[in-house]
Amino acid sequence: MQVWKTINTAREAIHVGGADLRPLGLVPTMGALHEGHLALVREARSRCAAVIVSVFVNPTQFSPGEDFSRYPRPFDRDCELLENESVCAVFAPDPGEMYDGDATTTVQVSGLTDHLCGPFRPGHFNGVATIVTKLFNVLSPDAAFFGEKDFQQLQVVRRVVRDLNLPVDIVPCPTVRDADGVALSSRNAYLTPPQRVQARSLSAALFSAKNRIACGVSDVSVLIADMRRQILAAGPAQIEYLEIVDPDTLKPVVRADRPVRIALAVRIGACRLIDNVPAP
Ligand code: PAF
Repeated sequence: MQVWKTINTAREAIHVGGADLRPLGLVPTMGALHEGHLALVREARSRCAAVIVSVFVNPTQFSPGEDFSRYPRPFDRDCELLENESVCAVFAPDPGEMYDGDATTTVQVSGLTDHLCGPFRPGHFNGVATIVTKLFNVLSPDAAFFGEKDFQQLQVVRRVVRDLNLPVDIVPCPTVRDADGVALSSRNAYLTPPQRVQARSLSAALFSAKNRIACGVSDVSVLIADMRRQILAAGPAQIEYLEIVDPDTLKPVVRADRPVRIALAVRIGACRLIDNVPAP
């Protein structure tokens, strides 16, 4: 497995690899890899001739006061995991390689970013949209793989690809959960053992709302009140949002009487957790 640190190295290697690397799959990550990332890699392997994983803790998607400096960066371990998955190369540039100090161009997606995490993480989705566009430009993948756990990110990336006519197939992959239902996330490492137990209440609340919708309950205010109760009964938590939204526009709906996405962001201790499920 090769490790590319610069844009020129990556471009040159992809050029030299030519048709042998096509179709080329990209799994964009910020490292601190877990089974969720490896599931993306495996899906990419099943569809593509070669897979590149980018490992880049993207500074521009962290809002002021967020965990950029303490975000886990176990790079050697990540490389070992990827080597075992027969990844062709890891693209791991330094921040200075991806961002010139005087860059003034960003990719901004409006509308979709007004909802869910958008208001709580100012600038976050501009940072994501910009780095993903740059990664696509540098690595020219045919397909890129994104987890549904970051459902809003997935929809934002799809919109960028559509609006900017980028020739990349965006492949969504289901959320990977631990046996107790907690969605895998690199940030779960911030949870203490009791908080990790408490975190089960998030997926439990989502799945019970999903079941109730399947049984015909469609009043969103009732469903959300129940989810709130369930989460707060598990321990102290700061609920940023609990919403039932249209999956395409991400706008809140009043009745869950058609396909919807149930989504939440909750802070438990120092950890901000997001999760979502489709319903019915
Ligand atoms: O989901 C992530 O890890 C990041 O937001 C991504 C897509 C790699 C962009 O930095």
